[in-house]
Amino acid sequence: MTRYLLRVLRQEPHERARWVWGEVELAPSATVLDALERLRERGGDSLGLAYRAACRHGACGECSVQVNGRGVLSCMTTLGSVCSGHQRVEVQPLAGLPVLRDLVVDRSRFFTALREVRPWLARAADVTPESTPASELPMTPEQLHTMQGADACILCGICASACPVTTARGAFAGPAAMLKLYGRLRDPRDEDPRGRLALAHGPLGAYRCRGALECTASCPRGLDPAQAIASLRIARGAGER
Ligand code: SF4
Ligand code: FES
Repeated sequence: MTRYLLRVLRQEPHERARWVWGEVELAPSATVLDALERLRERGGDSLGLAYRAACRHGACGECSVQVNGRGVLSCMTTLGSVCSGHQRVEVQPLAGLPVLRDLVVDRSRFFTALREVRPWLARAADVTPESTPASELPMTPEQLHTMQGADACILCGICASACPVTTARGAFAGPAAMLKLYGRLRDPRDEDPRGRLALAHGPLGAYRCRGALECTASCPRGLDPAQAIASLRIARGAGER
């Protein structure tokens, strides 16, 4: 067991943010999410501490926060991996998004931008997010591979939070949306390649990117949205599939 000192940023709606401190004794293999739970159970300054989490195994993207200044999934980040030498851990909400309360941010802008690129499968029969195809549309592993991991993105929002263009001006759909868009452009089941290209080269698309590469550096799934954006920029037609 190791003693860790947590510094957590708390904020009530319409009030100034304030740091609270708390000590937990946990194994280095325990996660930041475990530490937050322990703190909240203990009460005191951390009474009612608000944070999001659901799956606890890196699949839902709900638990994204900043730990020691970096966007991470709190359920997949061990205390041992963020403490080198000293035992302090600083936790604050994802940067660049409005805080609803404590570590909970409003990600509606992120999801609105995602909807703008229509990340769902477009079929001639007009498949909408609410409807389902009449039969299965299988893909080969090779076809899946060309989507550059777009299917593995869990929409945690960490890349968008790290992207200086997305957070500063909001005039870019953002790296996750571009990755999803690229995946659909390469998806052999998708029947709207022209629409995909128009979005990729449109006002919210790939040319807004300034190449900071923070998205790829920060993705907890090891995905490469920057490469997808670069590929979207030079994509010229459905024939490239
Ligand atoms: S690309 Fe990575 S960082 Fe961005 S939303 Fe998807 S999983 Fe999260
Ligand atoms: S709780 Fe689902 S990714 Fe962390």
